[in-house]
Amino acid sequence: MAENDYDAFAAAYDADNEANAWNAYYERPAILSLVGEVAGLRVLDAGCGGGAHAAVPIERGAQVTGIDSSAGMLDIAEQRLEGRARLLAADLNQALPFEDQTFDLILASLVLHYLPDWSGPLVEFHRLLPRGGRLVFSTHHPFMDHPSSGRDNYFETYSFDETWQRGGKDIAMRFWHRPLHAMFDALKSAGFTIDIVSEPQPDPRARMLFPQAYRSLTTTPRFLFFSAVKA
Ligand SMILES: C[S@@+](CC[C@H](N)C(=O)[O-])C[C@H]1O[C@@H](n2cnc3c(N)ncnc32)[C@H](O)[C@@H]1O
Repeated sequence: MAENDYDAFAAAYDADNEANAWNAYYERPAILSLVGEVAGLRVLDAGCGGGAHAAVPIERGAQVTGIDSSAGMLDIAEQRLEGRARLLAADLNQALPFEDQTFDLILASLVLHYLPDWSGPLVEFHRLLPRGGRLVFSTHHPFMDHPSSGRDNYFETYSFDETWQRGGKDIAMRFWHRPLHAMFDALKSAGFTIDIVSEPQPDPRARMLFPQAYRSLTTTPRFLFFSAVKA
C-alpha cells in the first residue's frame, strides 16, 4: 500500500481534524494567530487539506490559493470554501506552478514533515514571496517524533512509519524527522530569516473537552511553529 494516501481517507481525516484536540484546539488557533492580519494580502495555503485553515484568512479579507497533492482533500476544500479560494493540485516536492512573487504570505500547516528534503520547497516558497513576505508553518516537533520513531540518532534526518486508524481503515503513513539544526539551516540556506519560533499552549477550552490531550499538550512537545521572513 502507498504511504500517505490522503485520497483513501480524506473524509475521515477531515472530520477528525475539524474537531479534535490536536488540530482544532491547538494547531489551528496557534498558526492562525501567527498568520495575523491578512486583509488585502495574497495568501498561499500549501498542503491546504480540506481548507479549514484557508477559511480563516478568507474571512479576514485575504485572496487565498490552496494547493495539495490529494484530489480527495481538494474536493473537501472545494465544498468547504464554495469558490472563495483558488484550489490546485500540486506536489511540494516539485517546482510550483506560479510566477515569482505571486504571494505575500505562505502558510504551510503540518505538511513539511512529509517531505524528505526541505531545500527545494523552501527555495520555491522564497521565489513566490516578495522581500519581506512571510512563511508561516507548523511541523512535527523533533522532540515529539524522535522518541516514538524507534531510531537512535536524533541528529540524523530520517523517515519513519506509522499506521493510523481512520474511518475503520489502517492507513500507512511515512514522516520525516529532522533535528532542530536542520530546520534552521534549511530556512537560512533558502534565504529566510526566522522571526518567531513558537511552542504554543492549547486553547484553554481543551482542558474540559479533552482532559488527557490537554495534559499532554501542556506538558510535552507536539508541533513546532515558525514565522520566517524573506530577507
Ligand atoms: C496532516 S494534513 C494537513 C492538512 C492541513 N494543512 C491541516 O493542517 O489541517 C497533510 C496534508 O498535506 C498534503 N500533502 C502531503 N504531502 C504533500 C506534498 N508532497 N505536496 C502537497 N501536499 C502534500 C496531504 O495531502 C494532506 O492534505
